[in-house]
Amino acid sequence: MKVLVTGGLGFIGSHTVVELQNEGFEVVIIDNLSNSSEEVLKGIVAITGKTPIFEKMDLREKPAVQNFFKKHHDIAGVIHFAASKAVGESVENPLLYYENNISSLVYILQELQQKPEANFIFSSSCTVYGQAEKMPITEEAPLQKALSPYGATKQMGEDIITDVAKVTNINAILLRYFNPVGAHPSAEIGELPIGVPQNLIPFITQTGIGMRAELAVYGDDYPTPDGTCIRDYIHVVDLAKAHVVALQRLINKKNATKVEIFNLGTGTGSSVLEVINTFEKVSGKKLPYKIVSRREGDITSAYANTDRANTVLGWKAQSTLEHSLSSAWKWEQKIRS
Ligand code: UD1
Repeated sequence: MKVLVTGGLGFIGSHTVVELQNEGFEVVIIDNLSNSSEEVLKGIVAITGKTPIFEKMDLREKPAVQNFFKKHHDIAGVIHFAASKAVGESVENPLLYYENNISSLVYILQELQQKPEANFIFSSSCTVYGQAEKMPITEEAPLQKALSPYGATKQMGEDIITDVAKVTNINAILLRYFNPVGAHPSAEIGELPIGVPQNLIPFITQTGIGMRAELAVYGDDYPTPDGTCIRDYIHVVDLAKAHVVALQRLINKKNATKVEIFNLGTGTGSSVLEVINTFEKVSGKKLPYKIVSRREGDITSAYANTDRANTVLGWKAQSTLEHSLSSAWKWEQKIRS
């Protein structure tokens, strides 16, 4: 069965392509290489022994999207990762985010709605919950007004898909990721941040390897046990596997409603200081860091209630924080060697 993975050379996309190929799917990747590299294909081939079809294209070009679906008329499902994802950049350049994240989604759905049936998996984010009142966060938690254009595009994306699914043959699963981290255990693929990493784990591994002088910890005066923010760090391979299970659920028509929503996290919250300590343990390195003031827009705490994904999807994250960080560290060492 043929599956389209948009953004398939990106961080989560590439790990999902590996898991799809391991499960016997034929994968077609669309990627515009705006935040990825064709080199990632080599890593995918090294792990799976199979070469996915790769179409370098920009999903903002509607005629290109139309032609793609004419050429690949036999696609059994679409997993849509392609999107811009830097919160700060989205505040600086909102139209880039609205154009890129929304128009590509609309163009794909326009093609899918012409099919007798279509299966669609959407990359959403726990950012849709904002600072939830209750921890752990269930899928029923109320959504809050997005703090950035990036977050707004995830909420809008969910709404667009829900509206379209109601009146078409599209079935969809919206996956709300917590904080994806780590790399494939083979160290053939992993995260490739451009410039100075904004996210915690790549900043830590780059500091560990000596590329950055020290980590700035954004605030230790939060109402948490050690004063630093709490997040749910989920290993990217666990996350990738959830996409395969979700796709199989749609293909096998096991979905209970036209649109289903699942949180993807480990269910465990870790503070920034806990992450630093765990990194020091797995790497054997002392991590230089200093406490600085809070980062604007950061929430205190977010970790998932994963009951629905565990029981309905039959999926559960396997990796511990230690394992996730040690895979990220192995990857960092490999790419700098
Ligand atoms: C961020 C985005 C979120 C997006 C997610 C994708 C913001 C406000 N949120 O989540 O919308 O879905 O990335 O992975 O940007 N930290 C430091 N020092 C650093 C970097 C981070 O102390 O140099 C802390 C942060 O304050 C936070 C934690 O580490 O408490 C995790 O930060 P990060 O990796 O950026 O993820 P989120 O902010 O949770």
